[in-house]
Order: sequence, then C-alpha cells, then structure tokens
Amino acid sequence: MSDRPRIAVTGRIPHAGMELLHEMGEVVAWDSLDVPSVQQVHEMVRGAHAVVTLLTTKVDDAFLDAAGPQLKVVSNVAVGHNNIDLAACAARGVVTTNTPGVLTDATADIAMALVLMVTRRLGEGERVIRRGEPWQWGMFYMLGSGIQGRRLGIIGMGDIGQALARRAKAFGMTIAYSNRRPVAPAVEAELGAQLMSLDELFATSDIVSVNCPYSPATHHLVSTAQFELMKPTAYLVNTARGPIVDEAALVQALQSGRIAGAGLDVFEAEPTVHPGLLECDNAVLVPHLGSATVETRNAMARLAAHNAVNVLSGVEPPTPIPPPAN
Ligand code: GLV
Repeated sequence: MSDRPRIAVTGRIPHAGMELLHEMGEVVAWDSLDVPSVQQVHEMVRGAHAVVTLLTTKVDDAFLDAAGPQLKVVSNVAVGHNNIDLAACAARGVVTTNTPGVLTDATADIAMALVLMVTRRLGEGERVIRRGEPWQWGMFYMLGSGIQGRRLGIIGMGDIGQALARRAKAFGMTIAYSNRRPVAPAVEAELGAQLMSLDELFATSDIVSVNCPYSPATHHLVSTAQFELMKPTAYLVNTARGPIVDEAALVQALQSGRIAGAGLDVFEAEPTVHPGLLECDNAVLVPHLGSATVETRNAMARLAAHNAVNVLSGVEPPTPIPPPAN
C-alpha cells in the first residue's frame, strides 16, 4: 500500500483544486453532481488523512468516527462553515479550514443584484414577458423604488458586508451596519458607515441585507419582531445562510404587506423553498448562486486544496477557520 496520504473529496470540484490534491496524495473523489448520502460520505472518508468538503457535507461526530483517528484536516470549499462541528473537530485535533476572501466580490455582486432586482421588480417584469402576458410602456406601469439616497442596513460587516457597502455607496446609498464590533475607523470613514443596534438598523433601513455567519446565535435573527420594526416600504436581502431568516415569518410579512419585498439567494431548508415564497410576486428567489462564477469556483477549489496540502505537509494552512469569538 502507498504511503502517500489519502485524500477524500466529497463532491466534484474544479480541476484547479484536484490537480494539487493529486500531486499530494491518493485521491478518492465523489464523481457526480448529485449530493452523496450521509452513508456514501462516510464510506468515502474512511481512512482519509484529509477530507475536502462541500457545504452540503455534514461534518459531525459520526463523520469523524467514520473517517478514523488518522484524519488531520477538513477543508471546506466555502466561506460558511455551519456544516462543520468545529468543537468536535478541535476535540480530535482535526484542523478545519475554509475559503474566505476569494468569493467576496462574487457574493457582494449577487447581494447588490438582489437589491436592484427586488427594488426595480425585475423578476416580476421578466415573468410577465416570459408568460406572454400583454404589456405596454406606461407612466404608472410596474413602478419600483429608487435606491439613491436610501439607507442600506448591513447585518454583519465582514469582507462581504464591506464589499456590498462599497457597491451600494457607488449607487448613492447611505450605509448603516450592525456588527459584533465596529469596523476599522478608516473603513467606516471610507464607507460613511454608521454602526447601530440591530433594532435601530431594522427600524431605519430602506433595505436590510443579511451578511453574517450562521450559528445558533443567529438562528432566526430576522423574524416577526424584526419585520414589525421594519418600514412597510423596506426590503430584505439574504445572501448569507437561509436559517438566519425565519422563512414562515417572512412569507407572512410579504403577504401582509408588512414589508415591501425580499431578495433571497439562500433558503432555510435548501434545496426546498417555502411554498409561500413561490406565491409572493414581491420575492426574488435565486438558487444559492453567491459564489457561482467560473473564476471564483476555481479560486475556491485551489485555496481549499492548498489548505489541505499544507496541513498534510505540516505547514500552516493559508485560511484556517478561526476559533469562535467569545
Ligand atoms: C457559500 O455559500 C459559501 O459559504 O461559500
């Protein structure tokens, strides 16, 4: 048997990443675009020294038991890592890594696109044309809301939140944000961004964008009480993780006119979408496309492979997942 390390890859990733992994060890890769079952994942990872995971792979005690004590690293091909039980990995000395940075612009682009789509009713307009419905330019036809001079409230001012703020500022919006701690004064000044409490952000923003990580602390962070605070003319955009927003409460807020609309790239129980959302013309719904560009996915695969290879070589990986903040 070869003494090269064994590397499992739980989903198809671009060649740019696979190449590096093949140079390093013996690679077993899930060779289908379908998501493997839990049992298939557990079979694949048995005996692996490194596992490269997609965000659809659950890494918990059962996964770690299946892999075995030789496992050194779980390298997630995503910036979000709520699919990984970090404490369980740490308890077994397994290093965890993710892919921040390389998907910042692509994800901020999608957030800005959703801001524009929902405020200008672009999904609705496209549906009218595709359905072959009669339409005619008209002074009062399908009017949306302008965003210039309006306040964008960003929940979670990390890399993606800041990149979205830069885009929104270029569109003439003003920026408010809520974060565990203030961003650097130079960034605040550059963006003209104002730190405020979550309640104030919900109450005063014209568009609220969710850009924070998902954890038990942010589960249903946006629910009925928050919709009650929002202006009836305000919109919600979520490009982070679905369960940060209580989808049933959102459907209620959209149907009752409590808020004006929502743009969603992520959903509570992906790939299932709450049936109520499908009936809301004021909801723009796209299937988790935040990082879905060829360039970004290549960069994510390369970084994830680099992380795994470094740990296997006994070198610090470029982007370890930081320990949770207290
Ligand atoms: C995508 O959702 C990611 O977390 O990278």
